[in-house]
Amino acid sequence: MAKAHISLLLCVSVVLLNVVSHSADEASPAIFVLGDSTADVGTNQYLPETIFRADFPPYGIDFPHSRPTGRFSNGFNSADFVAKLFGLKRSPPPYMYLLTLNPHHFRKHLLRGANFASAGAGILDITGPNGSVVPLSQQISQVSEVKGNLTLQIGSAAADSKLSRSMFFISVGSNDIFGYFKANSTMQKNKFIAIVISTYSDHIMKLYKLGARKFGIISVPPVGCCPSQRLVQKALYGADGCFELQNDFALTFHSALDTLLSHLSTQLPGFKYSLGNGYKMSIDVINNPRASGFENVDAACCGDGLLNAQVPCNSSTSVCSDRRKFLFWDMFHPTKKAAFLAAQTLYNGPPYYVSPINFSQLAKDY
Ligand SMILES: *[C@@H]1O[C@H](CO)[C@@H](O)[C@H](O)[C@H]1NC(C)=O
Ligand SMILES: *[C@@H]1O[C@H](CO)[C@@H](O)[C@H](O)[C@H]1NC(C)=O
Ligand SMILES: *[C@@H]1O[C@H](CO)[C@@H](O)[C@H](O)[C@H]1NC(C)=O
Ligand SMILES: *[C@@H]1O[C@H](CO)[C@@H](O)[C@H](O)[C@H]1NC(C)=O
Ligand SMILES: *[C@@H]1O[C@H](CO)[C@@H](O)[C@H](O)[C@H]1NC(C)=O
Repeated sequence: MAKAHISLLLCVSVVLLNVVSHSADEASPAIFVLGDSTADVGTNQYLPETIFRADFPPYGIDFPHSRPTGRFSNGFNSADFVAKLFGLKRSPPPYMYLLTLNPHHFRKHLLRGANFASAGAGILDITGPNGSVVPLSQQISQVSEVKGNLTLQIGSAAADSKLSRSMFFISVGSNDIFGYFKANSTMQKNKFIAIVISTYSDHIMKLYKLGARKFGIISVPPVGCCPSQRLVQKALYGADGCFELQNDFALTFHSALDTLLSHLSTQLPGFKYSLGNGYKMSIDVINNPRASGFENVDAACCGDGLLNAQVPCNSSTSVCSDRRKFLFWDMFHPTKKAAFLAAQTLYNGPPYYVSPINFSQLAKDY
């Protein structure tokens, strides 16, 4: 008799727990991540033909269990650290992975968010070879699928409410600038940036129409300072240092994005945003590495040749021993330490780096 009571109690509490955690998930906001390799947590592994992948060692060498996951980092990336600051364990899983689950688990995961970011992707559809990336436009179609499934699951009002309180973290733009240079385009800088920003505007409007309200966006870092582009600078001008012509595109991109977001916030009711200045955040570290504990801000930690940027990082290239002292993990991507610092700045930083509010302010009533 007593036993029966206990097991009955157990059953009840299990049921209660289920109800509680279920409704907590339903009510609480989620995190949705869009963008490129700086935020990709394994999307590209699901693209059989992609040329951009990082699902082999030594990628992930500092990830739990030294596991390569498709992240373009030695460990967690900025999407993970931002998600941690919002109370998650790491970034939500890749949406492409969620698609492989059964419908029950697929929908359960969606309540907490998803990561759509794809290495090589850009704002423009022409950025990133066909088949190699999920372009931003397609990532947004996936957000629309998420909305459809959330609506089926918890009803239209709850789905709308959830999306409006959820965080949309977007990190994109570098690949469009790389694409411009790779194509030897002769288009004027201002014209090119205007096209990119007007396309970005269309994307953000689409997300807004789907119900997104809270946008945490990071602009493009000084891409000309990454090890691969330092080699381009050297090849073109015979000089060491950053490829300044390219950095100038990144600077212009940031100020145009700043203007766009400020304009959108006056046009769209309920639109809230926080823009991280990816340019300033990185260039300040590059100009004063020791202040943040870095000793090497020009070479890749993993790779071979000049600046470890002539041979792409793979299992047979060299890896630096103290990865916390390097800004760059491979010839294009920051280390885990750099991603950690960037996320901290986005979340808690002053208006000099993140404006008009920081991510923690965006998270209020999160
Ligand atoms: C990309 O490839 C897909 C499938 O092969 C094709 O349907 C699509 O039209 C291609 N897109 C472009 C822009 O070439
Ligand atoms: C739900 O998600 C699936 C992908 O698993 C998608 O094909 C479908 O269109 C979505 N449903 C709705 C109603 O949007
Ligand atoms: C751009 O110019 C470089 C150097 O002249 C050349 O090697 C490359 O093939 C060109 N790329 C395209 C897409 O035309
Ligand atoms: C690593 O890269 C080198 C140079 O590109 C290549 O020869 C080698 O096959 C690669 N090794 C692996 C395990 O992919
Ligand atoms: C970031 O936002 C928080 C929350 O409003 C605020 O208290 C803090 O002062 C901001 N951080 C900086 C360094 O301005």
